Amino acid sequence: MSRYAGDGQRIYVAGHRGMVGAAILRRLAGAGVGEILTRTHRELDLTDTRAVERFFAETRPSQVYLAAAKVGGIQANDRFPAEFIHQNLMIEANIIHAAWLHGVERLLFLGSSCIYPRLAPQPITEEALLTGTLEPTNEPYAIAKIAGIKLCESYNRQYGTDFRSLMPTNLYGPGDNFDLENSHVIPALLRKFHAAKSEGAPAVTVWGTGTPRREFLHVDDLADACVHLMGLGVETYRAHTRPMCSHVNAGTGEDVSIRELAETIGDVVGFKGEIRFDVDKPDGTPRKLLDVSRLAALGWTARTGLREGLAQTYAWFLEHRDMLRT
Ligand SMILES: NC(=O)c1ccc[n+]([C@@H]2O[C@H](COP(=O)([O-])OP(=O)(O)OC[C@H]3O[C@@H](n4cnc5c(N)ncnc54)[C@H](OP(=O)(O)O)[C@@H]3O)[C@@H](O)[C@H]2O)c1
Repeated sequence: MSRYAGDGQRIYVAGHRGMVGAAILRRLAGAGVGEILTRTHRELDLTDTRAVERFFAETRPSQVYLAAAKVGGIQANDRFPAEFIHQNLMIEANIIHAAWLHGVERLLFLGSSCIYPRLAPQPITEEALLTGTLEPTNEPYAIAKIAGIKLCESYNRQYGTDFRSLMPTNLYGPGDNFDLENSHVIPALLRKFHAAKSEGAPAVTVWGTGTPRREFLHVDDLADACVHLMGLGVETYRAHTRPMCSHVNAGTGEDVSIRELAETIGDVVGFKGEIRFDVDKPDGTPRKLLDVSRLAALGWTARTGLREGLAQTYAWFLEHRDMLRT
């Protein structure tokens, strides 16, 4: 674990009941530093400007982790584009503005690798931002996330704040969404393989050819990266970023094919049958891998191997499957 320079801080984790926010909370609690502030969505609607300002005025946090967002899969992004762009812009603008207004010393904004152009050269460097057309399926969400980075940079430039941004690759781990309709590939496959094993099914069918390559980061590794980044002095952070390209990618720097992923998940779950590929289903982009050299230069690399992380996530799924968000 990275040493955390957060002792004596009042740390607000926005979105602490989400997958990422909960992991940050676990990581901060494990380090036993600072006083941690949280509010549920019901207690504080982050799209409500006045309520957010009141909260900052009353609680006076010194550090903020901004992990609250309206998040969803392709279908939800397609059906509710106005909600995705509006709510995310409001959450970011409200928190970042209130953080400046009430003297927050350091803030970390969480975005996503969907900020990068659809055809960005691989592995994707931070410099690829705004060099091409975005993936149309989640463009409104991506635009809101780009705006979050630019809000941080603009406040830094105009007001001298220390607001940072981290852009994670695909995440997996405890707290993931295991909904069969709307989940990402890892929870969807874990659930599918588990069901096939339980029912004694002879085969599991995976969408597409199995050849696309993807990168996956365990959410507890991400939380460790967040806390590491927040512990760095401002000079160190700025030495490896630029005022108008201040965000940092977070990933493992390694990708796997969907076939390798499915085989590993089958193994972890203990499924003995056949894995088939439905080649009539779309593959999506052939490769998506982040260049993580900036984060490595800042002193952090991922530790959890994919098999180990998958085994841990499957154990979590078995323990929590009756209470999952499905
Ligand atoms: N999961 C991934 O694979 C992944 C990958 C890359 C980047 N990220 C980024 O990480 C961040 C967090 O994602 P996540 O996966 O943790 O999402 P999540 O599990 O959906 O958590 C988001 C949290 O934000 C809260 N929230 C949403 N709107 C709110 C509002 N108006 N007021 C107060 N709270 C609100 C949600 O509360 P309710 O549920 O009560 O609404 C939820 O607790 C996002 O910026 C996302 O882009 C995630």
